[in-house]
Amino acid sequence: MKAIEVKPGIYWVGVNDRFTQLFEGLWPIGEEGVSYNAYLLKDEKNALIDLAKSIKVDEFFEQIESVVPLSKIDYVVVNHMEPDHTGVLSVLKKVAPNATILISDRGAKMLKAFYQIDQNVKIVKDGEQLSLGKKTLKFFYTPLVHWPETMMTYEVSERVLFSCDGFGSYGALKGAIFDDECEDKEFYLKEMLRYYVNIVASFSRPVLRAIERLANLPIDVVAPSHGLVWRAEPHTPIRMYREWAEYAEKPSKKGVTLVYGSMYGNTERAMNSVLRGLSKSRLPISLFNVTQTHHSYILASLWEKRGVVIGAPTYEAALFPPMEDLLRLAQIKHVKNKLALIFGSYGWSGGAIKRIKELVEPLGWKVVDVHEFNGAPTENDLEKLQQMATQFAQQIESEPE
Ligand code: FEO
Repeated sequence: MKAIEVKPGIYWVGVNDRFTQLFEGLWPIGEEGVSYNAYLLKDEKNALIDLAKSIKVDEFFEQIESVVPLSKIDYVVVNHMEPDHTGVLSVLKKVAPNATILISDRGAKMLKAFYQIDQNVKIVKDGEQLSLGKKTLKFFYTPLVHWPETMMTYEVSERVLFSCDGFGSYGALKGAIFDDECEDKEFYLKEMLRYYVNIVASFSRPVLRAIERLANLPIDVVAPSHGLVWRAEPHTPIRMYREWAEYAEKPSKKGVTLVYGSMYGNTERAMNSVLRGLSKSRLPISLFNVTQTHHSYILASLWEKRGVVIGAPTYEAALFPPMEDLLRLAQIKHVKNKLALIFGSYGWSGGAIKRIKELVEPLGWKVVDVHEFNGAPTENDLEKLQQMATQFAQQIESEPE
């Protein structure tokens, strides 16, 4: 495939990954795929910005060579060291030995640790500019979006922000590279949220700091390392990231995530009453069986919606293990400030509800109500659960936006 022009003299030279099953070895992308977007700037000096995971190296190099010979690359800007961006670096060094790597100070240390590269490396400072001829690169340190060494690069004349992980999403590109070519932006926005929560959400404050830092920069194109290149609506991904980052400290959208697990159907029966109670409201409700949907997708809903209903049985005097795993992950990802309703069945001793509270209260979740029942839910239990759920939904609906 040939390189695709983003702006005069600026080309997309990325690759799509449709066979990795788990991004970072953790997060499912088997259905959705992911793109590793890299960019080539052709000028008196040629620069490559961001690279790719070490897959499809031939395809990656072919695209570059459709614009300039590999041996004519003068600079390689490494905005971020994570190997989904740098996997091809060792091979690239062999075919473009004269290229100078431009990287942040912390990035240079990681470069040595990951690839044993310390020659032909130039540390660029925060705010530093570098002329390529007609084009000028400006480097912005954006630590922790996603790793501490991460930076973004801005091309001044064409007003393109190469934002690396920032404003990125899962989702391989389906022919359409740009937002204005894409007929299914909803898919990328949905995958952008999941990517945000899975990868970046723990660093929401640094995300807000980076957005603040870039606030006065005129931006025509947001060119992230993953997902669509935004040239018709460059401020859409920035707005979405800001909104999601704010959920780390402020209330998120009105809505309910109902996540449950059930061993023999008793907690599930109770869940159906809860769902009936919730449905009296107009709130959007997302329902997940914790054993059937990967945590990656449930986390996205937990992050976005203000209300959480957890239904889980007691298992050996403790919490049903898949729910324990999910809530521990919610702790790691700092999913904070929710309103919660908890219910579940127990056989001979309780324990699940106590454990759920132990896990969620440190995250600032306010547990509004709980209901635990022995064995199968009685008609009274079902009635009570339905009423609790209706009241829970009303409480969320009556809150300020
Ligand atoms: Fe796209 Fe932090 O890796």
